[in-house]
Amino acid sequence: MKEQLLELEKKALSDLKAINDATELEQFRVAYLGKKGLITSVMKRLGELPPDERPEFGKLANQVKANLSRLLEDVREDLLSRAAGQKSFLDVTLPGRIPAYGHLHPLTLVINEVCRILSRMGFKVVKGPNVELDYYNFEALNIPRDHPARDMQDTFYISDNVVLRTHTSPIQIRVMETQKPPVSIIAPGKVYRRDSDVSHTPMFHQVEGLLVDRHVTFGDLKGTLTGFLNEMFGRETRLRFRPSFFPFTEPSAEVDIRCVICGGKGCRTCSNTGWLEILGSGMVDPAVYGFVDYDAEVYSGFAFGMGIERLAMLKYGIDDIQLFYRNGMRFLRQF
Ligand code: DAH
Repeated sequence: MKEQLLELEKKALSDLKAINDATELEQFRVAYLGKKGLITSVMKRLGELPPDERPEFGKLANQVKANLSRLLEDVREDLLSRAAGQKSFLDVTLPGRIPAYGHLHPLTLVINEVCRILSRMGFKVVKGPNVELDYYNFEALNIPRDHPARDMQDTFYISDNVVLRTHTSPIQIRVMETQKPPVSIIAPGKVYRRDSDVSHTPMFHQVEGLLVDRHVTFGDLKGTLTGFLNEMFGRETRLRFRPSFFPFTEPSAEVDIRCVICGGKGCRTCSNTGWLEILGSGMVDPAVYGFVDYDAEVYSGFAFGMGIERLAMLKYGIDDIQLFYRNGMRFLRQF
């Protein structure tokens, strides 16, 4: 029986050498070391030996079993490391992984462009608070408390006298309050209105412009905005100054550009009119000068305000304002 056991061990060792994968290894384990395996069945026959030979045989059998188990684990480890080694093979000829760089948001690009063009024309960039007093946002802009013009702008109220600014126009007042003419400023920033659909978001961006001096005329307003829009959208862009109303300007004009999508033929974006409204403007209303202590007999000026999202949508041909705020990588990567 002892010879039988040693013979078995010899055979097991040579079988083990021929093993190539995990399946073969498992078959080997079951065949030799499993509950019904060859080694196990030899050990079960211990009782057939005379009692004095049993301890020696038992010891030998245990040694053989332990030895085979250990070798089996070695083979298992060997197979695993061979598989892992194949996976982490380093191909030095592959191109490197390029780290992802961030870049400016399309709205920031447009704000920068607007500020660049107008700065070159002599306007100074200033800022104002997002949380604003009712006085600056409405009152001093000639929009009294019960004035119907307040309905044009669905306001977020912080308290009775404090609002999230609904436009950048309050910055006009803050500048004129602290500075005597001549003033020429632009003021980019966030504004807030209770509104949300395909063409509105509760927060959006505007750039305000203000120029006050002696002898400023509507011709200066037209020349400045025409120069600006020609540079922003190209010299061939056609413009239209259309009479309008704002409480803080008189006369007022809205400026349209020939639709950049259809070229004036009429499409969904321009509601078949061939024109797109892009800014509000006008000559500063003398009533406003009263609030900032400017002499309306001596000074005159113009102001304008434009929506940045709107400009960006036209410049890049984007038809959904919400895209600016979803931060989808496929959208943002295009700029
Ligand atoms: N504040 C106006 C708005 O948000 C836009 C505007 C119109 C600004 C005329 C101006 C202006 O400075 O003169 O609708």
